[in-house]
Amino acid sequence: MRDFKSIKITKREEGLEIHNPVNFPLVGMDSSSAVFKLPNEQCVKIYTDPEQLKNEADALKAGQHLSFIPEIYEMGPNFIVTEYVNGPPLKEYVRNCTYLPESLANKLLAVIKGMASANLAIGNAPLEHIFVLDHEELKCINPVISAHKTPPVPIPLLRDLKGILLQDSFLTHVKNSEPKIYKKWMKFFRKNRFDYKKITVVSGGSGHGVKTEDPRNLIGKGHQGAVYRVDDEKCVKIYAKLSQFTKEREVLLASQNLSFIPKVFETGPNFILMEYLQGPDLNTFLKTQSKLPEEVTTRLLKILKTMRKSGFKKIDAPLRHIIVTNQGFKLVDHVYSFSKRQDRPLELFRNLHERNFLDTFLDQVKALDPKIYVEWTSRPIPLTREEAVAEVDIKSTKKKRKKEKDKDKRK
Ligand SMILES: Nc1ncnc2c1ncn2[C@@H]1O[C@H](COP(=O)(O)OP(=O)(O)O)[C@@H](O)[C@H]1O
Ligand SMILES: [Mg+2]
Repeated sequence: MRDFKSIKITKREEGLEIHNPVNFPLVGMDSSSAVFKLPNEQCVKIYTDPEQLKNEADALKAGQHLSFIPEIYEMGPNFIVTEYVNGPPLKEYVRNCTYLPESLANKLLAVIKGMASANLAIGNAPLEHIFVLDHEELKCINPVISAHKTPPVPIPLLRDLKGILLQDSFLTHVKNSEPKIYKKWMKFFRKNRFDYKKITVVSGGSGHGVKTEDPRNLIGKGHQGAVYRVDDEKCVKIYAKLSQFTKEREVLLASQNLSFIPKVFETGPNFILMEYLQGPDLNTFLKTQSKLPEEVTTRLLKILKTMRKSGFKKIDAPLRHIIVTNQGFKLVDHVYSFSKRQDRPLELFRNLHERNFLDTFLDQVKALDPKIYVEWTSRPIPLTREEAVAEVDIKSTKKKRKKEKDKDKRK
């Protein structure tokens, strides 16, 4: 008999390596596990990470009494065999709906209540993890044990429903059929309304980043500010220092006509309310690529050339600051774009070098724009941060000035 135990999966830097001599169909995988379809409407998930296996097994076990949690048939040191869930994910199933049908809304509410009673949550991307089977039976794969302080409201699910314009219709259903639950949710929302105007950000957090007291809605932070999600389309960057706020505000407002600059909605005394950019940053994106797509080079080159043409002083595009959106590449963090002189994209070079893509990038640049290629490569490219710092004029002048000052003091 064919036995899935002869399937071997190994985690490698380039991704998961799968040896599948029995040819069971692969139905899904992530960076450390893979799912295969077995005969008899079963499937097996094979793990390389014992902790992931334990967490997922604990959650599935905690939900075995719930009809919408897949049944476990067998478990081993690196695998779990469960029923095979065959049907479209909810997101696809309701794609063209203008409202959530009553029967489906009821079932979804039952899932939410059942999950909560078993101390489970749906996890990330709920609409992709709930499947619709025959007779609209729902199955929720990948439940997770609720964190200690999980709010009493299924926030990720409501957010995803909002994303496909079905949140209102679902909430109306909850209001009518379970007014108590609805009231509890609304109370939670009122109490936790996020007011970014009350948030303060100060310099000197761990790793030289800024410090903020409020982790809710935090998207990211750097040396100058902290960025918070405000709603589906907006986020706000709050600055620790007024001087940096003024600098970045000037750049963003003066460059709203450039397609790679995030749109600004409003500026306040220490914040900039801007377009929330949906998508992975380019570093995360490139981690999934074995070769540097030429399209990436073309787009980066276009941004860097536009920056130069538009009078930007600092010409750079660090991979972590490029967000890959469906409206193209966008570049964030412009605090020093008008004030620090830097002619070559040194941080971009360094980031590409770390990903092993610098040589390909430069070859592609050479073919696309020989003049820029010569400009960039006529001097050696500094590959460490220290070398790069020494090249940036203003920084080295600052250093020199400081040295002179120190000398003066000693005199
Ligand atoms: N408009 C935006 N949309 C989505 N994410 C953003 C946006 N602006 C910033 N971020 C995220 O927040 C992080 C910190 O913002 P950034 O402007 O780099 O702050 P800092 O100036 O302190 O380095 C960014 O690296 C990015 O991941
Ligand atoms: Mg930054």
